[in-house]
Amino acid sequence: EIICYLEKLNTLAAQLQEEFSLEQVIIVPGDSSRDIYAKKDIGRAAARCLKESLYDGCRVAVTGGTTLAEVAHSMSGVVTARDVLVVPARGGLGGEVEEQANVVAARIAKAIGAEYRLLHLPDNLEESLLESLKKDARIKEVVELVKSCNILVHGIGVALEMAARRGLSPEGLQVLEERGAVGEVLRYYFNREGQIVYSQPGIGIEFEDMGGLKKVIAVAGGSNKAEAIAAVLRNHRRGVLVTDEGAARKILQKG
Ligand code: F6P
Repeated sequence: EIICYLEKLNTLAAQLQEEFSLEQVIIVPGDSSRDIYAKKDIGRAAARCLKESLYDGCRVAVTGGTTLAEVAHSMSGVVTARDVLVVPARGGLGGEVEEQANVVAARIAKAIGAEYRLLHLPDNLEESLLESLKKDARIKEVVELVKSCNILVHGIGVALEMAARRGLSPEGLQVLEERGAVGEVLRYYFNREGQIVYSQPGIGIEFEDMGGLKKVIAVAGGSNKAEAIAAVLRNHRRGVLVTDEGAARKILQKG
């Protein structure tokens, strides 16, 4: 029975991989919108995937969020790759300390004996202030490191939920609704077709930098995120997806 179940998960993974032209899809059992153990399993699977992707001198950028916090929790053990650097993909969002990109980056680095650098600034600053901060020599140095990353590990969020978490103005929220935004990554908002319909200014990896990445690992699960995940994948059409059965079935409209 267990073998039959695992085979079903493998079939779902193959279907997702084909539908979105992905390099690899890893599906853990359960639905993390209802079951916290499914989210922990996603974290474990993504941590393993990241460890296997590391190589000498590679630079890894990570986002924040509760799912990435689980990835950080699960990172441990020996890594043979040398001179690995881990950085946050963008400035912090505030909120729970464990969920901040800086903390996720530092945790992962410490767990595998890698180096890390942090971006000490909030993500939701006024644009003019942001532009001046980008000129600061120390910030510039870290931002350049972030932009030169080879591997990105990112979470995916439901657009309106993330906008609320980021304290977007009522006008901004209305624009998102009008433009049909369903998914969010790195403060870019995507509609169902995978087009970027809105972006919030920030510091760190920009959408244009994504092309230079060697590997992108998207980590997100839960049937509640199905539409968001599908929207983002429709845009990316590359990389690895680590998700759960709840999201996978709903994306493929099977549950
Ligand atoms: O804020 C960082 C971030 O990775 C967002 O880009 C993403 O939408 C969100 O976190 C996912 O958070 P969670 O894993 O808590 O759902």
